[in-house]
Amino acid sequence: MTVYAHRFTGKIALVTGGSRGIGAAIVRRLAKEGAAVAFTYSAAADQAQALARDIAAEGGRALAIKADSKVIQDIEQAVVTTVEHFGALNILVNNAGVLGMGTVDEFSVEALDDMYAINVRATYVAAKAASGYLKRGDRIISIGSVSGQRAGFAGASAYSMTKAAIGGMIRGLALDFAARGITVNNIQPGPTATDMNPADAPYIDQVIGLVPLGRLGTPDEIASLAAYLASDEASFVTGASLTADGGFLA
Ligand SMILES: NC(=O)c1ccc[n+]([C@@H]2O[C@H](COP(=O)([O-])OP(=O)(O)OC[C@H]3O[C@@H](n4cnc5c(N)ncnc54)[C@H](OP(=O)(O)O)[C@@H]3O)[C@@H](O)[C@H]2O)c1
Repeated sequence: MTVYAHRFTGKIALVTGGSRGIGAAIVRRLAKEGAAVAFTYSAAADQAQALARDIAAEGGRALAIKADSKVIQDIEQAVVTTVEHFGALNILVNNAGVLGMGTVDEFSVEALDDMYAINVRATYVAAKAASGYLKRGDRIISIGSVSGQRAGFAGASAYSMTKAAIGGMIRGLALDFAARGITVNNIQPGPTATDMNPADAPYIDQVIGLVPLGRLGTPDEIASLAAYLASDEASFVTGASLTADGGFLA
């Protein structure tokens, strides 16, 4: 049985892309530790509503918000809705992301623009929209990727570019928010078993071959690092890109 601390009682969180995968694990973890958690989704409405119901059934507070990270106004409205519903915003987790693969000859500039909008621009927009609500001790956490440091495969240039951009952005944001005592950090997961990277994919043995620990990560293992960064225990950590990758970058 896992025993959870209650580090986030009285805190309000917003997690983008919380309906599935790593985002859903972060939503559950923050809620288990006492936060009221709003989260966005763009397509998986049934999964989003089920997650909100599960958390309520366990005595937690959660709110599913339909908001497409490709649309600037949707992100801004998600921040406003969170504050209107729960009364504040203390922890912003920029998790929503998509994976588009293809070599430079195959992958279109339009597809690159779409992926950039979701993986990169949305993170900036959310930080900008949240800025006026965040206070001393609050947190911004973004989910980048080891792909920002190591492409690993042919066909990863566009995705790797978006994740490298997160590392640069959070260093700048960390300085922008430092004077107000708000920390900004980046989590770089390695290959993690989700719909984005299914454990039964035909290529998965090749992926696992790049992971010294010899397995995929779980969404809960990434959520643990998010919970640490969101907690008071990480009060002196800012501008950092931390990996949870089974040694992929070692
Ligand atoms: N899995 C890995 O191996 C891995 C490794 C490194 C980094 N990451 C990063 O971790 C994050 C989560 O990935 P995951 O593996 O959990 O992926 P996933 O299982 O595909 O889940 C993606 C989540 O993002 C949401 N999302 C996608 N497009 C969206 C949009 N336009 N607007 C709002 N929400 C959107 C999805 O919601 P809807 O379905 O409702 O749209 C879903 O909740 C991503 O940033 C990804 O790049 C993943």
